[in-house]
Amino acid sequence: MAEQVGAEADFFSVVGTQRAMRRLKPDPVPEEHIKRIIWAATRAPSGGNRQPWRFLVVTDAAKRKALAAVYREGWERYRASGYGGSAGRELAPEWAESNEKVLRSSQYLADHMAEVPVLIFPCIFGGGPKDLTSGSSIYPAIQNLMLAARALGLGTALTTIHRWNEPRVREILGIPETVDTAALIPVGWPKGKFGAGLRQPVEAVTYWDSWGAKRP
Ligand SMILES: Cc1cc2nc3c(=O)[nH]c(=O)nc-3n(C[C@H](O)[C@H](O)[C@H](O)COP(=O)(O)O)c2cc1C
Repeated sequence: MAEQVGAEADFFSVVGTQRAMRRLKPDPVPEEHIKRIIWAATRAPSGGNRQPWRFLVVTDAAKRKALAAVYREGWERYRASGYGGSAGRELAPEWAESNEKVLRSSQYLADHMAEVPVLIFPCIFGGGPKDLTSGSSIYPAIQNLMLAARALGLGTALTTIHRWNEPRVREILGIPETVDTAALIPVGWPKGKFGAGLRQPVEAVTYWDSWGAKRP
């Protein structure tokens, strides 16, 4: 990609280095930062501009501990069911290595979730069928939130494993049954450095005018 300047450089370097950061320090995060990243979330599109969202920010230590236990149990169930395995696929070395890294950092997060200073639950309400379209009115907001966190130097990861026991999450947080927790976003100062995640090149994922038609 050509070298970017000014605001473009900021935007593309934020997007290019926003990735799952699961090793987070327990140090507190200023409330202004939390409000700012939620502001970014609220700039996102939603169907009919209904903005069917609430952002439940959890800083209470006892609640974080209870939620971490739900997450940990969910993670163990996923692992036991074969999650993260190559399932007979022959992976290229860089993808196999990336897979291993994801597993190690996911395990770390499952083991340390209670220490993460801020857990944000982007919630969606409004009923209707639970399909790809309904989820589309919350995930752009989540991505905005994570990009804004990256711009402030805060690490996040989009996680969903808590949903294996959403009734318990609702109970801990007093969430009504008409509301779904679309994700659990741990937010904190990263222990490591931000960097680019492994992704397929643009040419490999772009078709022009007809399905399958690529340009070099
Ligand atoms: C829908 C969705 C669900 C995810 N669920 C989890 C999760 O429960 N736990 C977790 O540690 N990471 C989860 N992830 C994060 C992915 O593992 C991560 O985005 C992917 O490995 C790319 O990581 P990278 O940006 O560091 O390259 C989820 C991501 C998405 C988009």
